[in-house]
Amino acid sequence: MREIADGLARARDAQPAESIGPWCANLVTHSSNTRLPEDLQLVARYKPPLVVTALGSPKPAMETVHGYGGLVIADVTNLTLARKAVAAGVDGLACICSGAGGHTGSLSPFAFVSAVREFFDGLVVVGGAISDGWGVAGAVAAGADMVYMGTRFIATQESMADPAYKQMLVDSTSEHIVVSAGLTGTPASWLKPSLRARGIDPDNLPAAPPRSYDSSDVDKPSRWRDIWAAGRGVGAIKAVAPVATVVQQLRAEYDAAGRRFQERTHAR
Ligand SMILES: Cc1cc2nc3c(=O)[nH]c(=O)nc-3n(C[C@H](O)[C@H](O)[C@H](O)COP(=O)(O)O)c2cc1C
Repeated sequence: MREIADGLARARDAQPAESIGPWCANLVTHSSNTRLPEDLQLVARYKPPLVVTALGSPKPAMETVHGYGGLVIADVTNLTLARKAVAAGVDGLACICSGAGGHTGSLSPFAFVSAVREFFDGLVVVGGAISDGWGVAGAVAAGADMVYMGTRFIATQESMADPAYKQMLVDSTSEHIVVSAGLTGTPASWLKPSLRARGIDPDNLPAAPPRSYDSSDVDKPSRWRDIWAAGRGVGAIKAVAPVATVVQQLRAEYDAAGRRFQERTHAR
């Protein structure tokens, strides 16, 4: 966090402010994360403009983040969690839908966003299997303000993921993904070839263990470092490319989707 804050401060001196986007900290707010109080102290110190809470109520983060003028976005996988997050005063909801990489939801993005828009007019993010600009445009047309793209950016040159992981993403399609609660206690999308490589049969995964997301567990074999996750949008990844190239492609697809939408709606 210090590195990011210092780097951005230097960049602000050197380039126009509007060219620098906000950065974001992600906090696991589930009670099994024993490191949360220390993480919150760091958040208070470095003041990331955005904080995303995951796997638990956003409540523990609200006072700290609003205290310095930051915004809280809560990852939610269903309407009950979405309502609770809104009651806690969040600024945004990230609706994690079916097909997402890592911990996933099971709702259709169309159903989820429409339902959330009935009781929330704040920032709505949609995540899950969006890997091209057509999908981004679809999410915005459905009522979202922006999207999460996780899997797509793992297969970039700048990503610090294992090169074999990046190649597995290039080689995989949605058929290589299995959703199971057997590894963390919460449904998550895993790459079947990666499970097999660790001697785990993806077709016979264990029942859900107790939920555990302790960020302090750094010495245990990591489920994310050693067993690889991906969303069902993985099939759109054809090569490991620089982030700038991916962003250019996303932009071109997003613009093309906008034009197509205009043509279709004006033609009627
Ligand atoms: C390998 C991996 C690790 C992830 N780790 C986290 C995490 O630590 N915290 C979090 O809130 N979301 C995490 N996510 C979920 C993403 O924030 C996002 O919801 C998801 O990637 C969107 O779906 P997509 O991968 O299909 O684009 C992770 C996703 C992946 C693929």
